[in-house]
Amino acid sequence: MLASGRGSNLQALLDAINDGTLAAEVVGVFSDKAKAWALQRARDAGIPARSLGPKAFASRADFDAALFAAVDEVRPDLIVCAGYMRLIDGAVVDARRGRVINIHPSLLPAFKGLHTHQQALDAMATEHGASVHFVTADLDGGPVIAQARVPVHPGDDADALAARVLEREHPLLVETLRRFAAGRIVLAEDVVHIDGVASAPLQLAANLRFP
Ligand code: GRF
Repeated sequence: MLASGRGSNLQALLDAINDGTLAAEVVGVFSDKAKAWALQRARDAGIPARSLGPKAFASRADFDAALFAAVDEVRPDLIVCAGYMRLIDGAVVDARRGRVINIHPSLLPAFKGLHTHQQALDAMATEHGASVHFVTADLDGGPVIAQARVPVHPGDDADALAARVLEREHPLLVETLRRFAAGRIVLAEDVVHIDGVASAPLQLAANLRFP
């Protein structure tokens, strides 16, 4: 897992693994921020955790090459970005196509980039949410695997909306990884295939499962 901050998505995965909901193992947590709380959560769980500072490298490509060399050492089947706040070099991503996913707090393709909750409010969206997608060189533009939707309520501010989305992000990521772990999600020729069939994004239902 790659994370830059608090790591609540990491925690949701660790909790699901611990309670037997998710048959997976987090083999390493990596960050561009030495103080990321996600690293502490990993260490508390006995998981190798490592940070690399981008400033020590001459370019994004150099930093990403070093970071992903460290990631490769723990031999992950899947690389999960959750709150990892840096663009990833295109060559690094292309070399791992179909093996890097990200959770983004909007209903992609709407509201890419930063401040997605404020973007949704500014656009007077009535619905908002989160998406899990394959990472490509196109920022927040890779094929979408699964989404969770929440209503936007009158009077919401960005914080209220962020909290409502985050509550759904955690089960969304867990459910998506359950399908990955079962070998049911594959990227083939840039199209998401679920159970062998080219598919529109899975939608998290009210019972916090996919239909
Ligand atoms: C989440 O909203 C994620 O979608 C976004 O950053 C936030 C990270 O939260 N990209 P956490 O670090 O997992 O608590």
